[in-house]
Amino acid sequence: MTRTINVLFLAAEADPFIKVGGLGDVSGALPRELRALSNDEIKLDVRLVLPHHPAVKAENLRPLELFSISRGETEVGVEAFETDLDGMPVYLIGGEPIRANGSVYSLDASKDADKYVFFSMAAMELPKHINWQPDVVHANDWHTALSLYINLANRWEAGAKHVAGVLTLHNMPFMGSDVSAILASYGVKLAQTDLPEWARVLPLPLGLWASDAIVAVSPGYAGEVLTEEFGCGLNEFMVLRRETLSGVLNGIDTVSFDPATDKALSVNYNIHTLKRRAENKELLQEKLGLARNPNIPLLGIISRMDVQKGVDLAFTALKNMKRIDFQAVILGTGDPKLEEAAQALQTLFPDKIKAELRFDAAFARQIYAGADMILMPSRYEPCGLAQMIAMRYGCVPVVRAVGGLKDTVIPNETGFIFEKAHHMSLVSAIKAAMKILPNREKWETLQRNGMARDFSWEASARKYLNLYRALVK
Ligand code: GLC
Repeated sequence: MTRTINVLFLAAEADPFIKVGGLGDVSGALPRELRALSNDEIKLDVRLVLPHHPAVKAENLRPLELFSISRGETEVGVEAFETDLDGMPVYLIGGEPIRANGSVYSLDASKDADKYVFFSMAAMELPKHINWQPDVVHANDWHTALSLYINLANRWEAGAKHVAGVLTLHNMPFMGSDVSAILASYGVKLAQTDLPEWARVLPLPLGLWASDAIVAVSPGYAGEVLTEEFGCGLNEFMVLRRETLSGVLNGIDTVSFDPATDKALSVNYNIHTLKRRAENKELLQEKLGLARNPNIPLLGIISRMDVQKGVDLAFTALKNMKRIDFQAVILGTGDPKLEEAAQALQTLFPDKIKAELRFDAAFARQIYAGADMILMPSRYEPCGLAQMIAMRYGCVPVVRAVGGLKDTVIPNETGFIFEKAHHMSLVSAIKAAMKILPNREKWETLQRNGMARDFSWEASARKYLNLYRALVK
């Protein structure tokens, strides 16, 4: 007989409905990948729930019957819709608190508190209205973490079914703001927890506390959150929960990200026709208005302009490479100060460095296909997707030895790694790479090694499946 595991998967964003960053890639891919693992023995009925942000793009919306949740004397209406994605049911939860603040994320997390508390409350009510019961609630990051706390609070009620809670950690420093007053307004009490005192009122810690399993988005990050350096003040608590903590590396969409078929590229290539990649480099140089020369090293930075990503270190490193012949392209948006710094760099080296301060997915693909290397000097990196995409395109990653970067790049075999978050460490790593680059045979071996690695979602999804299985036993 086929056994079914029902999973309610909650996230603030999911591609193709709405995407701001890596969380959107993961939430768009993983739930479908999990469903695809279903076989005669086990069926995974994973369903996705998202806030109906004003910017969500969705077709075929079917309204569910209106319901509401009590907030003191008032009732807050939940306007939920159902749609689907490749056969997967997707629920969009709307209502006043979600409309009130249009953006997915605000710079000041306290502005998002009302929205995500409401979303978490409503998502936990949703099953009653769709005649379907989850065995597992799977939340992601602080925005949906409270659903696990609410789920646990429900479990305390007599006769309630055991619903397991899983929390995936994509970015620990973002914990949300004090939600004690909002929770109280919905009648949800704060429990006695073994969290540090300051954390007892924050969504992410409360979700961690309430979850049956915690998954970091790479084994490396799972180890790091236990340390003072990366544990954001929760490291001792995480050590207490060590038994329930694991690391599962994210995958990438290997169908979409495939240099052999990618429509954004003028010249497609694969591991056997790698020589043709050179044409993409020349086209990229031309597009950027840089000298068309196959021998000048071309470096790429494709990133959110954020100190987490260490782009400031990369800029200082490039500034320190005055006497070295290279070209560089910077693509991305973010912190205005860092955007300005990128612009200033282009002004300083107009025939070497180009700053393209915009979000441009097609252009990013052309950089992966044309640049010799990509720089990722992250201060911390829970997983990182760009280094995996780069390797698939034969673009050699130069990365800092943190989190998922350390787990995916093999030093001197698929890329270059440096230890210290200092621009001179990055310069040394770039120089080491540049030393090999003229040796075509050696460089192509690096490229081929990277292209041959399997970064598909399947292996990751299997690990989540095993986790669900263990939890619902
Ligand atoms: C966050 C992390 C990034 C990770 C992504 C998806 O954006 O910063 O490292 O790849 O989440 O899990």
